[in-house]
Amino acid sequence: MIPLKRRKVSQTVNQPNQTCKFPHVSIFILERKMGSTRRAFLTRLGRSKGFLITDTYSSSITHVVSENNTGDDVQTWIDNQTGQESSSSVHLLGIIWFTESMEAGQPVPVEDRHILKEALELLAENAEYSDNEGRSVAFRRAASVLKALPYRVQTMDQLKCLPCLGEHSQRVIKEILEDGTSSEVESTRHSEQFQAMKALTGIFGVGVKTADRWFREGLRSPSDLICTGQQLNRAQQAGLQFYDDLNKHVTKAEADMISEIVKEAVSAVLPGAEIQLMGGFRRGKEVGHDVDFLITHPEEGREEGLMPKIINWLEGRNLLLYQKWTRNSYLEKLDGPARPANNMDRFERCFSIFKLDRPAEATGSEGVRSSDQSEASSWRAVRVDLVVSPYSQFAFATLGWTGSKLFERELRRWAGQEKRMSLSSHALYDSNQRCYVRVQSEEEIFAYLGLEFIPPCERNA
Ligand code: UTP
Ligand code: MN
Repeated sequence: MIPLKRRKVSQTVNQPNQTCKFPHVSIFILERKMGSTRRAFLTRLGRSKGFLITDTYSSSITHVVSENNTGDDVQTWIDNQTGQESSSSVHLLGIIWFTESMEAGQPVPVEDRHILKEALELLAENAEYSDNEGRSVAFRRAASVLKALPYRVQTMDQLKCLPCLGEHSQRVIKEILEDGTSSEVESTRHSEQFQAMKALTGIFGVGVKTADRWFREGLRSPSDLICTGQQLNRAQQAGLQFYDDLNKHVTKAEADMISEIVKEAVSAVLPGAEIQLMGGFRRGKEVGHDVDFLITHPEEGREEGLMPKIINWLEGRNLLLYQKWTRNSYLEKLDGPARPANNMDRFERCFSIFKLDRPAEATGSEGVRSSDQSEASSWRAVRVDLVVSPYSQFAFATLGWTGSKLFERELRRWAGQEKRMSLSSHALYDSNQRCYVRVQSEEEIFAYLGLEFIPPCERNA
């Protein structure tokens, strides 16, 4: 194939000031459909972990990472760069291989399951956009089962005995194993509706229903909202204003900086209160979409009225870009053991956006700089969830807010179907004994459910 335009292929390796721990894995991150800001972020993240990431494509590259591209798109792009059909030894990978490697702190082996998992997760995402929760959960379960496989999937026979692989998931897997790609996945990925829903629900404060209404009105992207002067609520205005920052991953280092701020705020307004980092970061993840905290006080009742004080403290220091506070509305006597269908809990809570100062070195001169305004800024916006729990519910709240969502779902299903118990982030009700179970720790909850304790880092499924 003769490319229209032969670009210069550079051999230079840009790896400023950081030691490279895995010289045999040479990564190139494709900017196409990813954008320069995200690419720069991923590049910095990878380099900080000792990965060799080069800015320009060359024949020495072993791993190409892309997002929202098909394998064919990437292949064509590479062929255009090199002016020849590239050797098949280059791994063309989706973003999942990269994030898994970041989490593992080393390059994980390349396997088909990455491709399969990405395909199923895309279908799950699409089902969410059609408000089809059952279907979405089915695809997520299937993806999670594949992720956990210790071996390489090559034939359908190997999947025979696996749980959670429905007929639809199997059809998609079969197609990918046979043809390398699934027509359903590819047409979904490229569909106008999928892309618009992804962009619109990517705005903080915009759910599937709103995005769907906008889509039917002809809107496709955040900039369309600005052009058409859509009526937006306060959350959505903030979501639009800080769109780029909020769609960038939050790193563990950033989560730790926010932890320090929250600890300072809480100990200033209520000495003796306890704070715990929750969500993905408690499970040991290196990146997340937000930072979650659970706050309590060993003397039950002292936590009441805490949130407004924390908010005041933060606002007084100009650390909040947005906040919405909701009161605790849980009452055991009134709510009863039946848990709400959507698993929503009713703790006092603050949805917020923090204004986080970047450390000097992150804004100073560095190898990779983007022309993007938000890259050069001295601060970034970060989504933070603060939750206050009474001490007696703290163990349940801890379990509920650690996640992952899929893990919580399985655990609650186990409690209900296998044990006739009802588990929520507030309580555990035993229908056999007709009583609430009082516990001090997560360990006791697992024990009461007849399960071995599963540490947070093993709850990622
Ligand atoms: P998150 O949505 O923050 O997910 O919810 P996460 O696992 O931390 O992942 P990222 O990195 O931010 O995307 C954290 C946990 O809190 C529970 C969820 O079930 C999840 O397990 N949660 C979240 C609630 O219980 N109630 C909510 O309203 C929101
Ligand atoms: Mn989170």
